[in-house]
Amino acid sequence: MSVSLTGRSFLSIMDFTPEEVRYLLDLAHELKRKKKQGVREELLKGKNIVLLFEKTSTRTRCSFEVAAMDEGAGVTFLDSKSSQMGKKESLVDSAKVLGRLFDGIEYRGYDQQVVEDLAKYSGVPVFNGLTDVEHPTQALADIMTMEEHIAKPLNQCKLVFCGDTRNNIAYCLMYICSKLGMHYVGFGPKELRAADEVMARCAEVAKETGAVIECTDDPAALKGADAFYTDIWASMGEEDLIPERVKLLTPFKVTKELMAKTGNPDCIFLHCLPSFHDFETTMAKEQLALGYDIREVTDDVFLSPNSKVFDEAENRLHTIKAVLVAMLA
Ligand code: CP
Ligand code: NVA
Repeated sequence: MSVSLTGRSFLSIMDFTPEEVRYLLDLAHELKRKKKQGVREELLKGKNIVLLFEKTSTRTRCSFEVAAMDEGAGVTFLDSKSSQMGKKESLVDSAKVLGRLFDGIEYRGYDQQVVEDLAKYSGVPVFNGLTDVEHPTQALADIMTMEEHIAKPLNQCKLVFCGDTRNNIAYCLMYICSKLGMHYVGFGPKELRAADEVMARCAEVAKETGAVIECTDDPAALKGADAFYTDIWASMGEEDLIPERVKLLTPFKVTKELMAKTGNPDCIFLHCLPSFHDFETTMAKEQLALGYDIREVTDDVFLSPNSKVFDEAENRLHTIKAVLVAMLA
């Protein structure tokens, strides 16, 4: 059955069938191959997109910009300080205006409802560039990276996410693993366990796809992992929670010893980035001065040959391009 996603929004992995997710991954691999071969097709020529950012970004913003420019589209960037949205103009009015001017809208911010409302009122495809509970373009890049480095079909792969198992990255990994029939283990403290409602949504999908989705604090569950993933301990907007998170998550810091519990010397390490893996950032230094070591992973893992984090970062471009091409071309 042929898949067409033209005119759709990309708000959550859960809005897509397994076949549609597969289609986006295949398209991302193809667009990556073409870029490496220097093939340019300008699939988005004549289109214009706007990027709305209420939280900071390096990878997501740059990937949307380069993806659009590679395919001949125009791009406008607006952050919360330089637009009227929400302050002097309601979200609904801004959505209606942007929908008249642009062919597509990317949004990064806090509340998932904002991205849903932008899609509802703008009348054009809207792309979720991260909210407090979702980061769907990241999940596509993560799975694409697994496919490049693990010589097994996805439905035979086990992915461990270690840390705050109820954050936006963990939830999107749960969703995509459910859709693709994979084995997902959320490994973290009971206090940060994925919400029951999220577990239930995944269980429903897993009935169809054969996925296994579990959350635990038992290290025995790490055995046989093909990919080991972590994220920062306090997401954007949660900085006040750092003391509490350091206490809860220090036992889940990704070290060589923890990775060894997979029993798989080829287990790859993944991270959405940005990462605290040393003290080369102002934030890590400031927190250390206050007595908090906020590193979620140590350098012997982050810088190891098993670490594929920079391939993963590059794949943000190819997967975001796939989303734009699938929905706007
Ligand atoms: N992984 C990710 O979304 O990175 P940025 O915050 O830099 O966009
Ligand atoms: N969980 C992180 C992901 C950053 C890409 C955050 O929301 O800050």
